[in-house]
Amino acid sequence: MKEVSKNTIESVDIEGFQDDLLSWFEAEQRDLPWRKDQDPYKVWVSEIMLQQTRVDTVIPYFHRFIEQFPTIKDLSEADEEKVLKAWEGLGYYSRARNLQAAVREVHEKYGGRVPDTPKEISSLKGVGPYTAGAILSIAYGIPEPAVDGNVMRVLSRILSIWDDIAKPSSRKIFEASVRKLISHDNPSHFNQALMELGALICTPTSPSCLLCPVREHCTAFHEGTQNELPVKTKTKKQRNVQLASAVLIDDHERVLIHKRPGKGLLANLWEFPMAEINIAYVSDKEQMKETFSTQYGAKVEIKEMTGQIEHVFSHLTWNINVYKGQIIKLEEEKNDLKLVSLEEIKEYPFPVSHQKILKQYLESRE
Ligand code: ADE
Repeated sequence: MKEVSKNTIESVDIEGFQDDLLSWFEAEQRDLPWRKDQDPYKVWVSEIMLQQTRVDTVIPYFHRFIEQFPTIKDLSEADEEKVLKAWEGLGYYSRARNLQAAVREVHEKYGGRVPDTPKEISSLKGVGPYTAGAILSIAYGIPEPAVDGNVMRVLSRILSIWDDIAKPSSRKIFEASVRKLISHDNPSHFNQALMELGALICTPTSPSCLLCPVREHCTAFHEGTQNELPVKTKTKKQRNVQLASAVLIDDHERVLIHKRPGKGLLANLWEFPMAEINIAYVSDKEQMKETFSTQYGAKVEIKEMTGQIEHVFSHLTWNINVYKGQIIKLEEEKNDLKLVSLEEIKEYPFPVSHQKILKQYLESRE
């Protein structure tokens, strides 16, 4: 076993580290749309979108979202369905619903001004320690840590921290390190520089140490342990779920769609009727007929299978067999069960897996 050095924070030349990091950031930072101004609302939207999502994916969503909801007031007053539609395809939709709930609170309780204290900002829905620190430092210049997985990776190497970054309790260790290292002259650039270093240089595999502006300050570089850090235990294995879904049409070419419950996976998004399939039981078709009758009051005929969809979530994989079908009788439409035309359907937010179902269906008609 390799000798593991102690946490090296006491031996870091803090001012030298800050200077090297900030000079590099100021010269090399990417031109990103949320860096154009320090509007706390825009910083907030960008930081929520950037959770679990790559910068390149976020950029077009950020532009469209800010164009559609330019201010706290606009987002507060928007229909949730419009907000989910703007988020469609970005995933982790509770981020959008929590963001809107929190923005409504800011509108009502704080007169539309995003609070600038850790206590107030952290009390907002969906604003955890990372987001709180990011907004406080980037929008308000307050020296608070903003520690996410990327920042933990960078600091684990610089300071030779061998705690498991998959454990929630480790974040506090890294936050304590940032409190010692952070520039009080420019907390915004300091935190963004750590993120930028993690994105561009200090990457998960094969970090570019020879291009790193702070390698002189990096214990892992000196000790050659950059490929062993961070320590990150594997998360649980995925669960597989077998499903069958049908695009069900009535006599007027309207399609039956269902709004998912307000809690849980893909909450409040719309979907084509879907049944969980027990493969040891009767056919997909029989199980769908039973489920759609009891859950949706829909008597249906299921026709041919048109395709298969796989969708991977963070803890779950959906395998969906997709069918066409006809509605023979529907008891009634409800708030969460509608018949819509192929034109109207475009206004409803669907998860990516069900957007694919629609696409396959439209292609099968051509
Ligand atoms: N990842 C998380 N926040 C970021 C930011 N502000 N800029 C670039 N990447 C990020």
